[in-house]
Amino acid sequence: MVSSEGKTIVVVGSTGRQGGQVVRHLLKNGWRVRALTRTPEGKKAGALRSLGAEVLHADLDDRGTLEAAFRDAYGLFNMQPPVPGKMEVEIERGRNAAETARKAGMQHVVYGSAGPGHEKTGIEQWDAKIEVTKVMKDLGLPLTVLRPMAFMELMVDPSYYPQSSTWYIWPKLMGTDVRIPWISVQDVGAIAARAFANPGEYIGRDLPLAADARSLEECREDYRQVRGRYPSRFPMPMFLFEKFVGRDIPNMWRWLRNNPVSLDTSRTRAIHPEAMTVRDWLSGGQRNLTGTGNL
Ligand SMILES: NC(=O)c1ccc[n+]([C@@H]2O[C@H](COP(=O)([O-])OP(=O)(O)OC[C@H]3O[C@@H](n4cnc5c(N)ncnc54)[C@H](OP(=O)(O)O)[C@@H]3O)[C@@H](O)[C@H]2O)c1
Repeated sequence: MVSSEGKTIVVVGSTGRQGGQVVRHLLKNGWRVRALTRTPEGKKAGALRSLGAEVLHADLDDRGTLEAAFRDAYGLFNMQPPVPGKMEVEIERGRNAAETARKAGMQHVVYGSAGPGHEKTGIEQWDAKIEVTKVMKDLGLPLTVLRPMAFMELMVDPSYYPQSSTWYIWPKLMGTDVRIPWISVQDVGAIAARAFANPGEYIGRDLPLAADARSLEECREDYRQVRGRYPSRFPMPMFLFEKFVGRDIPNMWRWLRNNPVSLDTSRTRAIHPEAMTVRDWLSGGQRNLTGTGNL
Protein backbone atom coordinates (compact mmCIF):
# COMPACT_ATOMS: atom_id res chain seq x y z
CA MET A 1 0.00 0.00 0.00
CA VAL A 2 1.31 3.45 -0.93
CA SER A 3 0.75 6.48 1.28
CA SER A 4 -1.44 9.10 -0.37
CA GLU A 5 -0.02 11.86 1.81
CA GLY A 6 1.18 14.82 -0.19
CA LYS A 7 0.73 12.99 -3.51
CA THR A 8 -1.31 14.38 -6.37
CA ILE A 9 -3.45 12.40 -8.78
CA VAL A 10 -4.63 14.06 -11.96
CA VAL A 11 -8.14 13.09 -13.06
CA VAL A 12 -9.10 13.45 -16.72
CA GLY A 13 -12.88 13.60 -17.22
CA SER A 14 -13.37 14.86 -13.66
CA THR A 15 -16.64 16.60 -14.49
CA GLY A 16 -18.01 13.41 -16.01
CA ARG A 17 -19.76 10.43 -14.48
CA GLN A 18 -16.88 8.10 -13.72
CA GLY A 19 -14.24 10.83 -13.32
CA GLY A 20 -16.46 12.63 -10.79
CA GLN A 21 -16.60 9.44 -8.74
CA VAL A 22 -12.87 8.86 -9.06
CA VAL A 23 -12.27 12.38 -7.66
CA ARG A 24 -14.64 11.76 -4.79
CA HIS A 25 -13.07 8.45 -3.76
CA LEU A 26 -9.51 9.71 -4.11
CA LEU A 27 -10.23 12.73 -1.91
CA LYS A 28 -11.79 10.40 0.66
CA ASN A 29 -8.57 8.40 0.66
CA GLY A 30 -6.43 11.44 1.36
CA TRP A 31 -4.96 12.11 -2.11
CA ARG A 32 -4.55 15.56 -3.48
CA VAL A 33 -6.65 15.68 -6.63
CA ARG A 34 -6.11 17.81 -9.69
CA ALA A 35 -9.40 17.75 -11.56
CA LEU A 36 -9.14 18.60 -15.26
CA THR A 37 -11.86 20.25 -17.28
CA ARG A 38 -12.20 22.52 -20.29
CA THR A 39 -14.56 24.72 -18.28
CA PRO A 40 -13.10 25.41 -14.82
CA GLU A 41 -15.65 28.17 -14.31
CA GLY A 42 -18.57 25.73 -14.73
CA LYS A 43 -20.94 24.44 -12.07
CA LYS A 44 -19.50 20.93 -12.01
CA ALA A 45 -15.99 22.29 -11.62
CA GLY A 46 -17.22 24.46 -8.75
CA ALA A 47 -18.64 21.39 -7.04
CA LEU A 48 -15.29 19.60 -7.39
CA ARG A 49 -13.53 22.59 -5.88
CA SER A 50 -15.87 22.62 -2.92
CA LEU A 51 -15.05 18.95 -2.31
CA GLY A 52 -11.39 19.92 -2.04
CA ALA A 53 -10.04 19.26 -5.52
CA GLU A 54 -7.73 21.63 -7.37
CA VAL A 55 -9.50 22.38 -10.64
CA LEU A 56 -7.39 23.08 -13.68
CA HIS A 57 -8.15 23.88 -17.27
CA ALA A 58 -6.87 21.24 -19.69
CA ASP A 59 -7.88 20.00 -23.11
CA LEU A 60 -6.93 16.57 -24.44
CA ASP A 61 -6.42 18.21 -27.84
CA ASP A 62 -3.81 20.58 -26.45
CA ARG A 63 -0.64 18.94 -25.16
CA GLY A 64 0.59 22.20 -23.67
CA THR A 65 -2.34 22.26 -21.24
CA LEU A 66 -1.75 18.59 -20.39
CA GLU A 67 1.94 19.18 -19.71
CA ALA A 68 1.10 21.95 -17.26
CA ALA A 69 -1.61 19.86 -15.61
CA PHE A 70 0.48 16.68 -15.25
CA ARG A 71 3.55 18.40 -13.79
CA ASP A 72 4.79 16.96 -10.46
CA ALA A 73 1.84 14.61 -10.15
CA TYR A 74 2.17 11.06 -8.82
CA GLY A 75 -0.63 9.43 -10.78
CA LEU A 76 -3.17 9.83 -13.55
CA PHE A 77 -6.73 8.64 -14.03
CA ASN A 78 -7.01 8.64 -17.78
CA MET A 79 -10.13 8.43 -19.91
CA GLN A 80 -11.37 9.73 -23.25
CA PRO A 81 -14.98 10.09 -24.23
CA PRO A 82 -15.88 8.55 -27.61
CA VAL A 83 -16.42 10.87 -30.56
CA PRO A 84 -19.14 9.33 -32.75
CA GLY A 85 -17.82 8.40 -36.19
CA LYS A 86 -14.32 9.65 -35.36
CA MET A 87 -12.52 6.93 -33.47
CA GLU A 88 -9.19 8.43 -34.55
CA VAL A 89 -9.94 11.48 -32.38
CA GLU A 90 -10.36 9.31 -29.27
CA ILE A 91 -7.08 7.52 -30.08
CA GLU A 92 -5.22 10.78 -30.67
CA ARG A 93 -6.48 12.23 -27.39
CA GLY A 94 -5.44 9.02 -25.65
CA ARG A 95 -2.01 9.30 -27.23
CA ASN A 96 -1.71 12.92 -26.09
CA ALA A 97 -2.48 11.93 -22.50
CA ALA A 98 -0.23 8.84 -22.62
CA GLU A 99 2.83 10.57 -24.05
CA THR A 100 2.44 13.48 -21.66
CA ALA A 101 2.12 11.06 -18.74
CA ARG A 102 5.34 9.35 -19.84
CA LYS A 103 7.12 12.68 -20.05
CA ALA A 104 5.83 13.71 -16.62
CA GLY A 105 7.08 10.45 -15.11
CA MET A 106 3.69 9.35 -13.77
CA GLN A 107 4.15 6.52 -11.30
CA HIS A 108 0.71 4.97 -11.81
CA VAL A 109 -1.85 5.39 -14.58
CA VAL A 110 -5.36 3.96 -14.14
CA TYR A 111 -7.23 3.86 -17.44
CA GLY A 112 -11.00 3.95 -17.76
CA SER A 113 -11.43 1.57 -20.66
CA ALA A 114 -14.53 -0.30 -21.86
CA GLY A 115 -15.67 -3.40 -23.64
CA PRO A 116 -15.33 -7.13 -23.65
CA GLY A 117 -11.64 -7.73 -24.17
CA HIS A 118 -8.59 -7.45 -26.29
CA GLU A 119 -9.90 -8.60 -29.66
CA LYS A 120 -11.17 -5.85 -31.93
CA THR A 121 -14.92 -6.07 -32.49
CA GLY A 122 -15.57 -3.28 -34.99
CA ILE A 123 -17.21 -1.28 -32.20
CA GLU A 124 -15.26 1.93 -32.53
CA GLN A 125 -15.27 3.09 -28.92
CA TRP A 126 -14.03 -0.32 -27.76
CA ASP A 127 -11.45 -0.65 -30.51
CA ALA A 128 -10.15 2.87 -29.83
CA LYS A 129 -9.51 1.86 -26.22
CA ILE A 130 -7.55 -1.21 -27.32
CA GLU A 131 -5.37 1.16 -29.38
CA VAL A 132 -4.91 3.63 -26.51
CA THR A 133 -4.03 0.77 -24.15
CA LYS A 134 -1.41 -0.40 -26.63
CA VAL A 135 0.08 3.10 -26.81
CA MET A 136 0.30 3.25 -23.01
CA LYS A 137 1.85 -0.23 -22.79
CA ASP A 138 4.36 0.52 -25.55
CA LEU A 139 5.42 3.63 -23.62
CA GLY A 140 6.03 1.42 -20.57
CA LEU A 141 3.57 3.31 -18.38
CA PRO A 142 2.80 1.66 -15.03
CA LEU A 143 -0.74 0.83 -16.01
CA THR A 144 -3.95 -0.55 -14.54
CA VAL A 145 -6.83 -0.99 -17.00
CA LEU A 146 -10.42 -0.92 -15.72
CA ARG A 147 -12.83 -2.38 -18.24
CA PRO A 148 -16.52 -1.86 -17.42
CA MET A 149 -19.17 -2.90 -19.95
CA ALA A 150 -22.37 -1.06 -18.99
CA PHE A 151 -22.84 1.65 -16.39
CA MET A 152 -25.99 1.27 -14.29
CA GLU A 153 -26.50 5.01 -14.87
CA LEU A 154 -27.74 4.10 -18.36
CA MET A 155 -31.01 3.11 -16.70
CA VAL A 156 -31.83 6.50 -15.17
CA ASP A 157 -29.35 9.27 -16.02
CA PRO A 158 -31.38 11.80 -18.06
CA SER A 159 -28.36 12.71 -20.18
CA TYR A 160 -28.55 9.18 -21.65
CA TYR A 161 -32.26 9.66 -22.57
CA PRO A 162 -33.01 6.27 -21.02
CA GLN A 163 -36.70 6.22 -21.99
CA SER A 164 -35.72 6.10 -25.65
CA SER A 165 -32.26 4.55 -25.55
CA THR A 166 -32.03 2.01 -22.74
CA TRP A 167 -35.67 1.02 -22.48
CA TYR A 168 -36.84 1.33 -26.11
CA ILE A 169 -34.06 0.98 -28.70
CA TRP A 170 -31.56 -1.15 -26.78
CA PRO A 171 -33.94 -4.13 -26.20
CA LYS A 172 -34.96 -4.01 -29.84
CA LEU A 173 -31.35 -4.38 -30.96
CA MET A 174 -29.92 -6.68 -28.29
CA GLY A 175 -33.03 -8.59 -27.25
CA THR A 176 -34.52 -8.55 -23.78
CA ASP A 177 -32.98 -11.78 -22.49
CA VAL A 178 -29.24 -11.34 -23.16
CA ARG A 179 -27.36 -10.93 -19.90
CA ILE A 180 -24.63 -8.30 -19.77
CA PRO A 181 -22.27 -7.09 -17.01
CA TRP A 182 -23.24 -3.92 -15.13
CA ILE A 183 -21.45 -1.68 -12.67
CA SER A 184 -22.23 1.74 -11.19
CA VAL A 185 -19.82 4.62 -11.70
CA GLN A 186 -19.59 4.93 -7.92
CA ASP A 187 -18.06 1.47 -7.81
CA VAL A 188 -15.74 2.26 -10.74
CA GLY A 189 -14.54 5.24 -8.67
CA ALA A 190 -14.04 3.08 -5.58
CA ILE A 191 -12.08 0.48 -7.56
CA ALA A 192 -9.89 3.14 -9.20
CA ALA A 193 -9.06 4.51 -5.73
CA ARG A 194 -8.26 0.99 -4.52
CA ALA A 195 -5.90 0.52 -7.46
CA PHE A 196 -4.07 3.79 -6.74
CA ALA A 197 -3.70 2.81 -3.08
CA ASN A 198 -2.19 -0.58 -3.96
CA PRO A 199 0.11 -0.10 -6.94
CA GLY A 200 2.07 -3.28 -6.22
CA GLU A 201 -1.08 -5.32 -6.58
CA TYR A 202 -2.71 -3.45 -9.47
CA ILE A 203 -0.02 -2.22 -11.85
CA GLY A 204 0.04 -4.51 -14.87
CA ARG A 205 -3.55 -5.72 -14.38
CA ASP A 206 -6.45 -5.52 -16.79
CA LEU A 207 -9.71 -5.79 -14.87
CA PRO A 208 -13.09 -6.44 -16.49
CA LEU A 209 -15.55 -4.81 -14.10
CA ALA A 210 -18.89 -6.49 -13.41
CA ALA A 211 -20.92 -6.05 -10.25
CA ASP A 212 -24.02 -7.77 -11.62
CA ALA A 213 -25.07 -9.69 -14.72
CA ARG A 214 -28.64 -8.95 -15.78
CA SER A 215 -30.67 -8.87 -18.96
CA LEU A 216 -32.66 -5.77 -19.83
CA GLU A 217 -35.85 -7.60 -18.93
CA GLU A 218 -34.41 -8.51 -15.52
CA CYS A 219 -33.34 -4.90 -15.00
CA ARG A 220 -36.79 -3.72 -15.98
CA GLU A 221 -38.32 -6.10 -13.47
CA ASP A 222 -35.83 -4.91 -10.79
CA TYR A 223 -36.88 -1.37 -11.59
CA ARG A 224 -40.57 -2.24 -11.16
CA GLN A 225 -39.99 -4.05 -7.89
CA VAL A 226 -37.92 -1.21 -6.46
CA ARG A 227 -39.86 1.77 -7.82
CA GLY A 228 -43.35 0.36 -8.11
CA ARG A 229 -43.64 0.82 -11.87
CA TYR A 230 -41.83 -0.10 -15.05
CA PRO A 231 -39.43 2.49 -16.49
CA SER A 232 -41.06 4.73 -19.09
CA ARG A 233 -40.50 4.01 -22.74
CA PHE A 234 -40.50 6.70 -25.34
CA PRO A 235 -40.51 5.39 -28.91
CA MET A 236 -37.94 6.92 -31.23
CA PRO A 237 -37.27 6.01 -34.84
CA MET A 238 -33.86 4.48 -35.44
CA PHE A 239 -32.74 7.17 -37.90
CA LEU A 240 -33.39 9.86 -35.29
CA PHE A 241 -31.58 7.94 -32.56
CA GLU A 242 -28.57 7.51 -34.85
CA LYS A 243 -28.69 11.20 -35.63
CA PHE A 244 -28.21 11.90 -31.89
CA VAL A 245 -25.71 9.21 -30.93
CA GLY A 246 -24.20 7.98 -34.20
CA ARG A 247 -23.99 4.36 -35.35
CA ASP A 248 -21.50 2.96 -32.85
CA ILE A 249 -23.88 2.50 -29.91
CA PRO A 250 -26.56 0.73 -31.98
CA ASN A 251 -23.80 -1.45 -33.48
CA MET A 252 -22.61 -2.26 -29.96
CA TRP A 253 -26.05 -3.39 -28.92
CA ARG A 254 -26.43 -5.54 -32.06
CA TRP A 255 -22.99 -7.02 -31.39
CA LEU A 256 -24.00 -7.95 -27.85
CA ARG A 257 -27.00 -9.86 -29.16
CA ASN A 258 -24.78 -12.29 -31.02
CA ASN A 259 -21.58 -12.35 -28.98
CA PRO A 260 -21.64 -13.71 -25.45
CA VAL A 261 -19.46 -11.75 -23.01
CA SER A 262 -18.03 -12.75 -19.66
CA LEU A 263 -20.61 -12.44 -16.89
CA ASP A 264 -18.19 -13.28 -14.11
CA THR A 265 -18.73 -10.93 -11.18
CA SER A 266 -16.39 -12.77 -8.82
CA ARG A 267 -13.23 -10.87 -9.76
CA THR A 268 -14.88 -7.50 -9.21
CA ARG A 269 -16.41 -8.70 -5.94
CA ALA A 270 -13.03 -9.99 -4.78
CA ILE A 271 -11.60 -6.48 -5.27
CA HIS A 272 -14.63 -4.56 -4.05
CA PRO A 273 -17.13 -6.74 -2.16
CA GLU A 274 -19.48 -3.77 -1.58
CA ALA A 275 -20.10 -3.31 -5.33
CA MET A 276 -23.81 -2.73 -5.85
CA THR A 277 -26.11 -5.08 -7.73
CA VAL A 278 -28.60 -3.49 -10.11
CA ARG A 279 -31.29 -3.87 -7.48
CA ASP A 280 -29.15 -2.33 -4.70
CA TRP A 281 -28.30 0.52 -6.96
CA LEU A 282 -31.88 1.17 -8.06
CA SER A 283 -32.94 0.89 -4.42
CA GLY A 284 -31.04 4.00 -3.56
CA GLY A 285 -27.35 3.46 -4.06
CA GLN A 286 -27.31 6.14 -6.72
CA ARG A 287 -28.79 8.67 -4.29
CA ASN A 288 -25.33 8.91 -2.79
CA LEU A 289 -24.60 11.09 -5.80
CA THR A 290 -24.57 14.72 -4.78
CA GLY A 291 -26.56 17.53 -6.30
CA THR A 292 -24.27 18.08 -9.28
CA GLY A 293 -25.55 14.92 -10.94
CA ASN A 294 -22.08 13.62 -11.54
CA LEU A 295 -20.42 13.53 -8.18
N1 LIG B 1 -21.83 4.46 -20.71
C1 LIG B 1 -21.41 3.26 -20.36
O1 LIG B 1 -22.18 2.37 -20.02
C2 LIG B 1 -19.93 2.99 -20.38
C3 LIG B 1 -19.49 1.74 -19.94
C4 LIG B 1 -18.13 1.47 -19.94
C5 LIG B 1 -17.25 2.44 -20.35
N2 LIG B 1 -17.71 3.63 -20.79
C6 LIG B 1 -16.74 4.62 -21.23
O2 LIG B 1 -16.75 5.68 -20.32
C7 LIG B 1 -16.32 6.86 -20.98
C8 LIG B 1 -17.30 7.96 -20.69
O3 LIG B 1 -17.20 8.23 -19.31
P1 LIG B 1 -18.23 9.15 -18.58
O4 LIG B 1 -19.60 8.64 -18.84
O5 LIG B 1 -17.76 9.31 -17.22
O6 LIG B 1 -18.02 10.50 -19.42
P2 LIG B 1 -18.93 11.79 -19.41
O7 LIG B 1 -19.79 11.82 -18.20
O8 LIG B 1 -19.56 11.89 -20.75
O9 LIG B 1 -17.86 12.94 -19.26
C9 LIG B 1 -16.93 13.22 -20.25
C10 LIG B 1 -15.73 13.90 -19.61
O10 LIG B 1 -14.71 14.05 -20.58
C11 LIG B 1 -14.23 15.38 -20.51
N3 LIG B 1 -13.77 15.79 -21.85
C12 LIG B 1 -14.44 15.70 -23.00
N4 LIG B 1 -13.69 16.16 -24.01
C13 LIG B 1 -12.51 16.57 -23.47
C14 LIG B 1 -11.34 17.16 -23.99
N5 LIG B 1 -11.20 17.44 -25.31
N6 LIG B 1 -10.34 17.45 -23.14
C15 LIG B 1 -10.45 17.20 -21.82
N7 LIG B 1 -11.55 16.64 -21.27
C16 LIG B 1 -12.56 16.33 -22.09
C17 LIG B 1 -15.40 16.21 -20.03
O11 LIG B 1 -14.87 17.33 -19.35
P3 LIG B 1 -15.24 18.87 -19.66
O12 LIG B 1 -16.42 18.88 -20.57
O13 LIG B 1 -15.53 19.43 -18.30
O14 LIG B 1 -14.00 19.43 -20.25
C18 LIG B 1 -16.06 15.26 -19.04
O15 LIG B 1 -15.46 15.37 -17.77
C19 LIG B 1 -16.22 6.54 -22.45
O16 LIG B 1 -14.89 6.31 -22.78
C20 LIG B 1 -17.03 5.27 -22.56
O17 LIG B 1 -16.60 4.48 -23.63
C21 LIG B 1 -19.02 3.95 -20.79
